[in-house]
Amino acid sequence: MDNYVRIFDTTLRDGEQSPGASLTSGEKVEIARALARMGIDIIEAGFPAASPDDLEAVRRIAIEVGTGPQARSEDADTAQSVTQRQPPIICGLARTTKSDIDAAWEAVRHAARPRIHTFIATSPIHMQYKLKMSPGEVVQRVREMVAYARTLCADVEFSPEDAGRSEPEFLYTVLALAIECGATTLNIPDTVGYTTPEEWGRLIEGIIRNTKGIEKAVVSMHCHNDLGMATANTLAGLRAGARQVEGTINGIGERAGNASIEEVVMALHTRRNLFHLTTGIDTTQISRVSHMVSTYTGIPVQPNKAIVGANAFAHEAGIHQDGMLKHHTTYEIMQPEMIGLTQSSLVLGKHSGRHALRVRLGELGHELTTEELDRAFERFKELADKKKSIADADLEALVADQIYQPREIYALDGLQVACGTMGMPTATVRLRCPDGSLQVQASTGTGPVDAAYKAIDGIINAPNSLEEFSIRAITEGIDAIGEVTVRLESKDEALAPRETAQNGRKRTRSFGGHGADTDIIVASAKAYLSAINKLLVASGRAPAAAPVSTAKP
Ligand code: KIV
Ligand code: ZN
Repeated sequence: MDNYVRIFDTTLRDGEQSPGASLTSGEKVEIARALARMGIDIIEAGFPAASPDDLEAVRRIAIEVGTGPQARSEDADTAQSVTQRQPPIICGLARTTKSDIDAAWEAVRHAARPRIHTFIATSPIHMQYKLKMSPGEVVQRVREMVAYARTLCADVEFSPEDAGRSEPEFLYTVLALAIECGATTLNIPDTVGYTTPEEWGRLIEGIIRNTKGIEKAVVSMHCHNDLGMATANTLAGLRAGARQVEGTINGIGERAGNASIEEVVMALHTRRNLFHLTTGIDTTQISRVSHMVSTYTGIPVQPNKAIVGANAFAHEAGIHQDGMLKHHTTYEIMQPEMIGLTQSSLVLGKHSGRHALRVRLGELGHELTTEELDRAFERFKELADKKKSIADADLEALVADQIYQPREIYALDGLQVACGTMGMPTATVRLRCPDGSLQVQASTGTGPVDAAYKAIDGIINAPNSLEEFSIRAITEGIDAIGEVTVRLESKDEALAPRETAQNGRKRTRSFGGHGADTDIIVASAKAYLSAINKLLVASGRAPAAAPVSTAKP
């Protein structure tokens, strides 16, 4: 058995099924690029049958990321070198129906390495209540649809949904049939996060031992986190012989989410003496990709989240600090640099030129066009006037704020607030409108942010409710940049809810917004506007943004 673990990222599909997450196609492409750069083997780019927009986003990823150059340089010491020399596999999800499979193929077929992932439930509960199909009918469907998918694509993944609550004997039959019909990867989902690590390890072991033809396929796992055991289950399954892991960045996903890729990867890396397994992941990209996903989805990362939470490498308590000063290994099992948290605080300053900015951004993975660099440099100079030392984190925020935003339909041109204990919080906002005109509106509110948002609402008619608002300082010090992330739920009737792959549930569309500035009220207003701009594009009230960046994987 090989010791290489394929990492299958479903942030753009299962992650996007998270309550509240909704990404524009430009953001999906950017995330896919970052995943490719990180060394992800397979990107599940979406569920193309959900809507023409979903299909188009997967198609763009197949073309723009799935045909790109190698994700990272070859590492001769590791078994992943062959995989890493090629662009990632781009995968589309499909139910076991002809129309879903056709849509998935249409979306992924331009990739150098396309994959169709088709699934049907096999647990008694799902077959009886959701599918209303007998086990015999499910078997028949698997036979027909896996074979059909295989006529289109040489790389077919099959998942028996809710495998964690399925009868093992039935699973062996269905999986053997899927292999016979051409499936090349068998993905075993714990759809509702029900199992424990011991049970899960036994299930995977049983499948490997009892499924006819299993040696012809890669065994994969897809664990949900309803009982907080997704990572533990995934690791147990690897020990039992599975060699593909499905998960998401920051563990986002349906309900309590999916196994978090950064946790699984860092566990394999940190405890390689125990697992003896390798991945193709460049772990120094983890922090950056985590931040990008949080920014674009509008889903903040909890501070105590393993690996990527703000406190994951902070050593507050005095006793810990004392131990750390004596030797960092006393309380630190991983170094922050391993996930890309660099210690360099002063990378550029007031006197740094355009060339230095380009070089540093390039080192951080942002290859900007001349026009993007001009805009970034303008923002950089403004920032350097206010802030003496500019850290990598500041540059990342600046780029996220300035470059990876959708085209500004409405832009903040001016903002003034009055607040405090002596009167009513009031904000006056001046926006540049799509026709080039400037509009001014003033409003009161419960606080300066509320007042600013109400003033913006007075100019733009984009019905929504604010579901999430989070603010954080990017670096330490009084002159730190404040970074605001918001998530809005659309109340626009023109915006059709989207269907999820598994339960057909309709989800109201929501939009993440991001803003960064040394003034936190300005950052808040920018974040709100960026989410509203996305909402306007999605509802067809403003033209879609052009591709937002040319950064290469
Ligand atoms: O959780 C699940 O079962 C899934 C399948 C579609 C793989 O997401
Ligand atoms: Zn899932």
